[in-house]
Amino acid sequence: MPSARSSDVLVVGGGIIGLVTAWRAAQRGLATALVDPEPGGGAAQVAAGMLAAVTELHFGEETLLGLNLASARRYPDFAAELTEATGQDLGYRRSGTLAVALDADDRAHLRELHALQVRSGLESQWLSGRECRRLEPMLAPGVRGGLRVDGDHQIDPRRLAAALVTACERAGVVMHRTWAKRLAVARERATGVVTTEGTELGAERVVLAGGSLSGRLEGVPEEAVPPVRPVKGQVLRLTVPRRYAPFLNRTVRAVVRGSHVYLVPRENGELVVGATTEELGFDTTVTAGGVYELLRDAHELVPGITELPLTETRAGLRPGSPDNAPLLGPSALDGLLLATGHHRNGVLLTPVTGDVMAHVLATGELPAEARPFTPLRFGAPARTELPV
Ligand code: GLY
Repeated sequence: MPSARSSDVLVVGGGIIGLVTAWRAAQRGLATALVDPEPGGGAAQVAAGMLAAVTELHFGEETLLGLNLASARRYPDFAAELTEATGQDLGYRRSGTLAVALDADDRAHLRELHALQVRSGLESQWLSGRECRRLEPMLAPGVRGGLRVDGDHQIDPRRLAAALVTACERAGVVMHRTWAKRLAVARERATGVVTTEGTELGAERVVLAGGSLSGRLEGVPEEAVPPVRPVKGQVLRLTVPRRYAPFLNRTVRAVVRGSHVYLVPRENGELVVGATTEELGFDTTVTAGGVYELLRDAHELVPGITELPLTETRAGLRPGSPDNAPLLGPSALDGLLLATGHHRNGVLLTPVTGDVMAHVLATGELPAEARPFTPLRFGAPARTELPV
């Protein structure tokens, strides 16, 4: 079998999680390679890029909150370092988030979320409907109240992905632009991967960072297969013409009839509207129903959106895990580490994931903040039924 030069670390998957892992590993002096047919692709091409540790807090996810906050705190330095390393603007915007309620039920739900946020020591301010509209005049007149969270920021995930590709290349990461088909295992240890062309890429350690596809690499022993599944999200992109700017000053979100809808305004005039949550396997079809529901809910929140050009519709796959938290660190197979299962928080968790994975690769130790997220927490065997 033809074989390419061996590396210290081989990252399988060139989405933002694989890229940040490779970049940080290379910065630690590890000879690092990455395999992906299109580095910089994946769910980041669809994601809205909210850094929403506080407004996306869910009951029962307090442990994940700690990791989310740790990553949010790192974002300013991380973004500055990445921009410095690449010369690329990331669209990082600290303009905050407003989560609003449209009826009495939504308001009660938001009040409970606010109480949880306060109990968790988070910065979140309750506003009346009138105060919400003063901040965001385009909001519907019926808004009943809301939460102002200035600490929940945003970044443009497409720019983030492109910058991470450049940063990896500049740090000496070897890019294999092809598919990893099978994990190579010898004497009960991962030794690299075999590509679709049949080339073996050898490595001391393999990091599986394949997003929603992470459970599909052939050759991974049953007990080490990550229990991730695809969770579809449909997302729209609209454009705010200059004459309407600023249409929104910050991210605006709500739960409408039980579904989350958010509007993320970028400085360049893009307005991202997301997202559906659908358990349909590996399906990335944009449906009339998905677009209709997003536009209907977004219109209830901000009626003026119907005036804006609709410039893109797209669906992506979040890598869902059984507890909605990522899998970070050594798997049940020697030499195989996981960096996957980030579900709704991949963009937010990018800085901390890079640091955690580089630390464990360089020292063999999972840092304390990442220990609750060891893949070993699920026990074995973990394979989920995945559609072919
Ligand atoms: N974090 C936003 C989403 O997953 O839709």
